Amino acid sequence: MFGPMHAQAQKVDKQTDARIKSLISQLTLDEKLSMLHAGSKFSTGAVPRLGIPALTTDDGPLGVREEVDENWAPRKLPTDYATFFPNGSALAATWNPTLARLYGQALGEEARARKKDVILAPAINITRTPLNGRTYEYLSEDPYLNSALAVQAVKGIQQWHVAACVKHFAVNNQEANRYNVDVQVDERALHEIYLPAFKASIEQGNAWAIMSAYNKLRGSYCAENSFLLKDLLRKEWQFKGTVISDWNGTHSTVNSALNGLDVEMGTETAYNNYYFAEPLKAAIKAGLVPMKVIDEKIYHILNLLLHTAMAPDTKVPKLNSREHYKTAYDIASESIVLLKKDKRMLPLNLSKVKSIAVIGDNAQRHFQREGFGAGVKAKYEISILQSLKYKLPDINITYAPGYKVSYKATASDSVKAAGNKADSKLIAEATDAAGKADLVILCIGGNRTYETENTDRKNLSIPYGQQTLADAVLAANPNTVVVFTGGAPYDISKLKEQSPAILWDWFNGSEHGNALVDVLLGKVNPSGKLPFTFPALLDDSPAHALHTYPGENNIAEYKEGIFVGYRWFDAKKIDPLYCFGYGLSYTTFALADVKTDKTTYAPTDAINASITLTNTGNMPGKEVVQLYVRKDRDAAAIERPEKELKSFRKVMLQPGEAATIRFKLKVSDFAYYDVNAKQWKVQPGSYVLMFGTSSAELPQRVRVWVK
Ligand code: BGC
Repeated sequence: MFGPMHAQAQKVDKQTDARIKSLISQLTLDEKLSMLHAGSKFSTGAVPRLGIPALTTDDGPLGVREEVDENWAPRKLPTDYATFFPNGSALAATWNPTLARLYGQALGEEARARKKDVILAPAINITRTPLNGRTYEYLSEDPYLNSALAVQAVKGIQQWHVAACVKHFAVNNQEANRYNVDVQVDERALHEIYLPAFKASIEQGNAWAIMSAYNKLRGSYCAENSFLLKDLLRKEWQFKGTVISDWNGTHSTVNSALNGLDVEMGTETAYNNYYFAEPLKAAIKAGLVPMKVIDEKIYHILNLLLHTAMAPDTKVPKLNSREHYKTAYDIASESIVLLKKDKRMLPLNLSKVKSIAVIGDNAQRHFQREGFGAGVKAKYEISILQSLKYKLPDINITYAPGYKVSYKATASDSVKAAGNKADSKLIAEATDAAGKADLVILCIGGNRTYETENTDRKNLSIPYGQQTLADAVLAANPNTVVVFTGGAPYDISKLKEQSPAILWDWFNGSEHGNALVDVLLGKVNPSGKLPFTFPALLDDSPAHALHTYPGENNIAEYKEGIFVGYRWFDAKKIDPLYCFGYGLSYTTFALADVKTDKTTYAPTDAINASITLTNTGNMPGKEVVQLYVRKDRDAAAIERPEKELKSFRKVMLQPGEAATIRFKLKVSDFAYYDVNAKQWKVQPGSYVLMFGTSSAELPQRVRVWVK
């Protein structure tokens, strides 16, 4: 489905092409230039004389960002409330492309209602290090899961005459030193790991916009990188849309103009000084940038505008609609991962419970707008505590914060320490409440001040002394369910030992509390699966094991190559704390009867495989059947990962119900990128198809041969 070789060129129909060319012929140079750079924080210049509107953009991915003034201060309008959607890794944890589509549709509709042409989402960089401050915004460590969800999000957004702007192209995998770091990565890792979701977003999602990243790739800034913007994007992927720079991510006039950047965006307000304003005019006059190049950029922008601002609405778009909150709820409820289960604890059996102590600041915290970077001014955001009180009116619910969030991220931080000591007074108060209650729900974790754009975390420790809090609370009352809210891996190894039940929760949008409480109560059976590996130790993960993070002298060398995420843990035989694809359910499932239609295939064949999934427990539930492929070693000895995710399906089953699940793969999905030949190649020989419910639990296997 999302294999490397199923390209489809973007097309501009004849009528659109003629209209664009006619407009270009009527534009003056100054008018053209005004379209090529910011004229405000989030828009370019317009040409009213010809009916060409400004190109209006806004962040994503959490929802349509509130309006800000020229100093980034909120404009406090009554009209810019929006739905807050679960963060990227939450969406990925659903392993549900249908939900990614609904997310895109809702986001696109709200963007259209707010009169935006471009929504700066989805954010699809690979989780290379768990410390990346934007791990919560991104989707996954795996290129297939990343692509499958990105494509649907893009398609959904664009159903509303709003362009998806996939970001940040490319290899923007850390925030530390993000404006300068020069990524040295081999060609194979680029093609197999870091590029597939961008490629798929364009070739399969038909994205009309892409954002160049801040960092450099092999010595050249992404906003002026001819390999990325010309060779790959325009020539190979046939991209006809618009390349927009990240804000203040442009570093030159002539190089950027000649190497493929279309629009320069930024945060400075002296718009005439932008590289693509007066300096570009001078460069054109000096003969350094031909008009043909300028016209190509205008062509891309007009193509985008004709799909968006200049396209009539077919339906009236809505903001904050019930459907959008339903989508936010559905994503949240399918994203929650049951990490540890104990039947006596979960789902909660409240028949004898008269009192619950809810402990931890995260129980009442809102996650819509903290830290550095884009948030949402949500019409509402339901916290865990609010929802518990609402849904359990007959139970005495007490609350104690347990820890204090005092860390403030500043723009000048490059990395941050876990910081903040345990607060003994708050812990004493929490332990007291825990001891008196029949049941404790301990709501700890990260937040959006701690996990944020522009800085990485310094380590995997749980901040604010929360482990000390957890020790005390679990000692005071072992009837404790741990709810850990975060967007990235943390070191929860001690919690894994000491607590009977753990739910992994995310920055889960407007319906956060409702979704989480419904999972606690068993109204929703958890079906989320981790979209990345939780290492037991930071140094177990590749970038850290090889000391290539954050890099030296501004260079980050991706020495691990294609061995990112579970590919590394497999190769090094390291057990993670929780593996990629992991997540339990209140019910149980069994897989049996794996079959393929043939045993030997030609390189151009499709492979039809099937497997039976049975719900063997006593609760309805969803399970994600994951299909990984391994190439058996052969004489050619081309290095291949132990396994790679190639497909997955999420299925709902009633107790006792069985379903036959069919998978269709292409043999070309087994290809690796041959650096010398500069193309994808399928090796002949034998491959093992492995089916299971996490990357470590793959009980059903079948071997096939490729001629
Ligand atoms: C971020 C982008 C974002 C832009 C505009 C930058 O700092 O890297 O993801 O879209 O700001 O807010």
